[in-house]
Amino acid sequence: RQLVAVIPAAGIGKRVGATIPKQYLSILNKTIIEHSLAPFLDLPEIKRVIVSLAENDQWFASLPVAKHPKIETVVGGAERVDSVLAALNKIDSDDYVLVHDAARPCITSGDINKLIHNVKAHQQGAILASKVRDTMKRSDASNSILNTVERDNLWHALTPQMFINQSLMNAIKENKQPEKVTDEASALEMSGLPVNIVEGRSDNLKVTREEDLKLAAFYLSQGEI
Ligand code: C5P
Repeated sequence: RQLVAVIPAAGIGKRVGATIPKQYLSILNKTIIEHSLAPFLDLPEIKRVIVSLAENDQWFASLPVAKHPKIETVVGGAERVDSVLAALNKIDSDDYVLVHDAARPCITSGDINKLIHNVKAHQQGAILASKVRDTMKRSDASNSILNTVERDNLWHALTPQMFINQSLMNAIKENKQPEKVTDEASALEMSGLPVNIVEGRSDNLKVTREEDLKLAAFYLSQGEI
């Protein structure tokens, strides 16, 4: 089985408040997507890196990384899951796929290796996740607290998420509630298939809001510690 990385990068990322898609903003002299791609391009066991781009993307082709021999691009879709599926269709069904958000620039090769090791050892899909630290509340629509959600065994789902391509493609294609498929694991869960959690670094944040840019810059300046 080959290991193939899939990087959905077809979103517009409006919440970050910039005029260009967030993955093309720069942090420490490199775009966010270049940081997100770097460890996948560096790891020798990952053979292909497929980036899913918006149809009218005007930025990716001019990045130096676009010429890297491992890089391929596909046109993404309206939702994240459509962008992921467009890339999965280019991959052998027996191969392992690692799906990683273009908007998570602080991913380390250490965490990727930990995930790969876990999937190979247990022969089951797995995701990186970090433990919830705060007391969690559920509210009603007017922000009045309904209850405290038990924090034990509660995790933030991160990426990459790793599966055998066939299992992931089947789970996505069979799914009847695409609006609930906000990550790859959710598609497998809804098909009743088991997925492991691998504890990952909590600094593997997704750049969503403007303040995340400063935090990501700080983590990237620290290197892998
Ligand atoms: O918007 P959000 O932060 O949840 O997006 C997560 C990742 O999915 C981003 O890297 C974004 O570019 C990607 N995405 C995509 N196609 C979409 C929507 C989001 O590839 N239609």
